[in-house]
Amino acid sequence: MTDRELMDRAKEAWKFAYIPYSHFGVGAALECDDGTVYTGCNVENAALGCTICAERTACVKAVSEGHRRFVRIAIYGEGETYCMPCGQCRQFLAEFSPEMEVLCAKAGGRYVSYKLRELLPHTFRL
Ligand code: THU
Repeated sequence: MTDRELMDRAKEAWKFAYIPYSHFGVGAALECDDGTVYTGCNVENAALGCTICAERTACVKAVSEGHRRFVRIAIYGEGETYCMPCGQCRQFLAEFSPEMEVLCAKAGGRYVSYKLRELLPHTFRL
């Protein structure tokens, strides 16, 4: 699967974002080492701190079905700037695959690519 195809999967998931509070949708598509792709969207809550980001939705879906090694994640948002993963999502993904690649899109579909290691150096570990 190409980077663009993975981003298209993230865009499809973006349509399901539950965003009554921020009105900012995010979609994610997480590729596992065997090629399986899990998607996710942000799911907000009236108790705002309960909100779950798109990346963590996808990651929890994958881990709960037995996948722990990830190659890439595509993150799609329609902001004016690239939709970067928040600090909590960086830490959450790094738990499983600190060397994975992170693709971040903005309105219009252009995206940039990083290594998770660059976005979160010196990851916390026990
Ligand atoms: N959000 C994500 O889904 N992923 C991130 O990495 C950053 C933020 C969501 C959470 C909330 O629903 C909305 O974006 C605005 O913060």
